[in-house]
Amino acid sequence: MSESTKGKGSGTSEAQIAAHWQEERYYYPPADFIAQANMKDENIYGRFSLDNFPDCYREYADLLEWFTPYTEVLDTGSAPRWHWFKGGKLNASHNCIDRHLAADKNKTAIHFVPEPEEERTEHITYQELYVRVNEMAALLRDFCGLKAGDRVTLHMPMTPDLPVTMLALARLGVVHSQVFGGFSGGAAGDRIIDSGSEVLITIDAYHRGGKLIDHKEKADIAVEKAGDEGQKVKKVLVWQRYPGRYSAKTPMVDGRDFFVNDLLKQYYGERVPPAPMESDSPLFLMYTSGTTGKPKGCQHSTGGYLAYVTGTAKYVQDIHPEDVYWCTADIGWITGHSYIVYGPLSLGASSVIYEGIPNYPDAGRLWRIAQDLDVNIFHTAPTAIRALRKLGPDEPGKYNFQFKHMTTVGEPIEPEVWKWYYEVVGKGKAVVVDTWWQTETGGFLCATLPAIKPMKPGSAGPGIPGIHPVVFDDEGNLVPPGQGKAGNICIQNPWPGGFQTIYGDHERFVRQYYSRFCKDPKSTDWRDWPYVTGDAAMISADGYVRILGRVDDVINVSGHRLGTKELESAALSVPEIAEAAVVPVRHEIKGKEPDMYVSVVPGVEPSEELAQRVRDAITAEIGPIARPRKVWIVPDMPKTRSGKIMRRILANISNGTEVGDTMTLANPEIVDIIQQAAVGGADDTKDCLIKDC
Ligand code: WTA
Repeated sequence: MSESTKGKGSGTSEAQIAAHWQEERYYYPPADFIAQANMKDENIYGRFSLDNFPDCYREYADLLEWFTPYTEVLDTGSAPRWHWFKGGKLNASHNCIDRHLAADKNKTAIHFVPEPEEERTEHITYQELYVRVNEMAALLRDFCGLKAGDRVTLHMPMTPDLPVTMLALARLGVVHSQVFGGFSGGAAGDRIIDSGSEVLITIDAYHRGGKLIDHKEKADIAVEKAGDEGQKVKKVLVWQRYPGRYSAKTPMVDGRDFFVNDLLKQYYGERVPPAPMESDSPLFLMYTSGTTGKPKGCQHSTGGYLAYVTGTAKYVQDIHPEDVYWCTADIGWITGHSYIVYGPLSLGASSVIYEGIPNYPDAGRLWRIAQDLDVNIFHTAPTAIRALRKLGPDEPGKYNFQFKHMTTVGEPIEPEVWKWYYEVVGKGKAVVVDTWWQTETGGFLCATLPAIKPMKPGSAGPGIPGIHPVVFDDEGNLVPPGQGKAGNICIQNPWPGGFQTIYGDHERFVRQYYSRFCKDPKSTDWRDWPYVTGDAAMISADGYVRILGRVDDVINVSGHRLGTKELESAALSVPEIAEAAVVPVRHEIKGKEPDMYVSVVPGVEPSEELAQRVRDAITAEIGPIARPRKVWIVPDMPKTRSGKIMRRILANISNGTEVGDTMTLANPEIVDIIQQAAVGGADDTKDCLIKDC
């Protein structure tokens, strides 16, 4: 192990690397896949080499329809605030809908699969999508008075009303900010405040795990929270899961809450011309967790983003207009924005939206959907694959479907799980493409081009064409590929899908993503501004990348990014809690789970009830996905002499691994006390409350 991987900055402990799997052999794509692939020209890597940067990206821009052609591919004058396709004007809604009508109006744009199996699938054609989006755009413009540049918060689950709303806002040039439906009302409130939204769009209810869940109640919490902090929400638009029927218990607030389905009646037949937007104008905000408590609004552009997701959906996912494509992610995450809505619809494909959970009512559900819709491209996350493998290892074989292409995203996939995906789900005939990227990057960074590069279980591929990854050690020295050394993975060049800034905090954007390895902060040459991903990784001799995890304070649970500070401040909202530290614990299905360590203020007795209140606070502030596995009430935290909590030690205790060096601690004796009480680690089902101080 090199020194470079031990440093504080890369945070990649030896244990982490040791636990990581070995390199695997190659699997080659089947000949019939290659024959039909969108990209089988190996020269693409040459065309997108750094020598041809940034002009190579004209190839992606040409996949779109522009109202006004761009005059410059990349303007670097305000580096690292990149400006792609300068001078060009376009509209995302036009590109995802209108341009397909002449040839394909009668084709399905969205297959909506409700969770209750007795409710039949709804097939929304491009023409129908056009009608719904136009009417909604008219409502948003005329009833809400929204105009280009305004921000609107959406807090919606997986129904077609969500992409309809997004595309209607995009049609007007209004910036949408969709908050994952599973997040709490409070989390939506925070995002309303940060984005300065005056309109919240939600739904009354949706199905999940066999229940019709009241969602409207979260809107009331969100609006109240925003109001408390001075952000007044003037209108709440409420879709109805069953139009004409209100499925929530929470009352509507007079003069503030409106049923979309009622209002829409006034706009039937309306058509709204798509606003010609500057390429650089923002399309949406997507909030994500980072190193400090406050989630940051990643601002994505219209032209660069849409070009990038269209190009990558076409070449990496191999989406053809005739494909039935299904990504099981939630549209509330970046994966859903890029690869359920914007990429596939821009290509004129049919995209599946499933409302519910994968195993409802049984472990065969996903495979029945795949069979009945004849899905041929499937995109999911390792956490879902692990769960499906555990629940029904033989289920896929019982159904008559055949994928040609399968994507994974969000976290590393174990080779064993990869092989089940390949052999059982793909039936040995589909390519598997492991895609590594981030909310910030808009689209894929590393992946194999499926007809050109072989697959390697457990590794994301090399940089996709136009993406040039590089690894630096903590001192900024280059770590060449093939040395078995990990470091900070960065991207040498900008690319059109990259986010433009953090909404309202450009200084943080520069500091967090670009400063670290920038040699000249005044430079306007892109070569001086490597993008810092915040992941630790190793690049093999063949250029394939193995991602080891985050170097910052982010825990990846089931592929969802949770900020440690967000979790800890939720725990600290319980008045009896004095200190809180959260650490990731390995989990068979979820990949990682949070373990919460807390200490109490003097005079407070630890109790199961208190631990429960900590759990409830986290669920209320963030949402059920953030619920910790355990809440350990400890007499004290292991601390450095300067008083910093040593989360690494707590993480090792929780994972049952070697605690490592405790010499530098101010209170080394606490480690034994916590460890003895926490014996059993990951398998222990009961919360352990450590009472002895
Ligand atoms: C991790 C999701 C390993 C990584 C698109 C990254 C991955 C973070 C992979 C971004 C992968 C994502 N292999 N790790 N294929 N894909 N990650 O913003 O740590 O929700 O920085 O974007 O997930 O998560 P985010």
